[in-house]
Amino acid sequence: MKKLGIGVIGTGSISESHMNAYAANENAAIVAVCDLNRERAGKAAEKYGASSVYTDYHDLLANPEVEAVSICTWNHTHAEIAIAAVKAGKHVLVEKPLSMTVEEAEAVRDAVRSTDRILQVGFVRRYDANAQLAKRFTEQGEFGELYYAKASLIRRLGNPGGWFADKERSGGGPLIDIGVHVIDLSWYLMGRPKVKSVSGNVYNKLGNRSNVKGLSFYQAADYDASRNTVEDLANALIRFENGASLLVEVSYALHAKSDESAVRLYGTKGGFEIDPELAIVSERHDTILNVTPQVDSLKFNFQQAFQSEIDSFVASATTGTEPLSPVEDGLTMMRILRAIYESAEQGKEIELQS
Ligand SMILES: NC(=O)c1ccc[n+]([C@@H]2O[C@H](COP(=O)([O-])OP(=O)(O)OC[C@H]3O[C@@H](n4cnc5c(N)ncnc54)[C@H](O)[C@@H]3O)[C@@H](O)[C@H]2O)c1
Repeated sequence: MKKLGIGVIGTGSISESHMNAYAANENAAIVAVCDLNRERAGKAAEKYGASSVYTDYHDLLANPEVEAVSICTWNHTHAEIAIAAVKAGKHVLVEKPLSMTVEEAEAVRDAVRSTDRILQVGFVRRYDANAQLAKRFTEQGEFGELYYAKASLIRRLGNPGGWFADKERSGGGPLIDIGVHVIDLSWYLMGRPKVKSVSGNVYNKLGNRSNVKGLSFYQAADYDASRNTVEDLANALIRFENGASLLVEVSYALHAKSDESAVRLYGTKGGFEIDPELAIVSERHDTILNVTPQVDSLKFNFQQAFQSEIDSFVASATTGTEPLSPVEDGLTMMRILRAIYESAEQGKEIELQS
């Protein structure tokens, strides 16, 4: 079978995870890479055997060997590049968030709908084996009606700096960056209920804590701590039309004792946790059972999830099947995120249009 020709746009930190997974997929070959920074793109091309190197993504999209692209650039370029890519006839895997604004997300959806190309949003948490296990159990009715979920991603020190900390290029701080992962995961596992309203708070109290010594954290390829215009903590209560609710809290900086990751869902017949590790709770014969599934890793396995995300993208692009994380879901996330920021700014609950 002919291998799917892949172009990678943006060869910074996360692109490594994409390229390692493409390299391990026997149906894909990385044929071209592009980055504003030529040296960075050149190094990636050398490492992964890409024959073409570009600094302008339009040139990569004009290459007929490129059939599908991974977009791993700064958030404010996602929509523009995704639209150009589908119009150039390429299938698209775009990193989260789908875009920086709701309007951009709508424009991407319209562009995708006007072609027969597929677009997959990089909601990597959905592709985690434990998330898929929980989804299977949920769909079999194991937990009954899921009516409450809690999601936390607390970093006491974890502002990645550079463009992540520049609102003009990122669209915001931990909410749009890491909050989108856990909001999406919880919403997906709850069965994607329609959002009714959102109430949120956003805080800029601690800055990026770049004064702290002795603790390392994820950083943008062009790390720079001198500029920071994004929030350091956000929380929200999301209400759904079916009566369910989701409570979220995320931070880049907080005087917390330790970092914390928690994704917990509660239903009428049982509950489960994905983070910090997979666990199932149920009740049998008047007894509460805490169940530990016997799987390779109870914790989120980043590498496995990325491999599964890329394998799934290659399969969808090759067969034309709907991705597990389609453009419409990327748009819903942008609507939720915007409503949280608006709610925080206005100090009141925001109703979403149904
Ligand atoms: N799925 C995940 O778990 C995960 C983790 C980290 C980052 N991300 C997402 O991946 C994207 C990239 O993040 P990162 O951490 O790799 O950032 P990064 O700064 O390390 O890398 C981004 C790269 O994109 C390049 N770039 C920016 N605009 C470009 C353009 N118009 N054309 C070509 N190259 C361009 C930059 O020069 C840089 O090398 C972001 O959208 C981020 O939200 C996802």
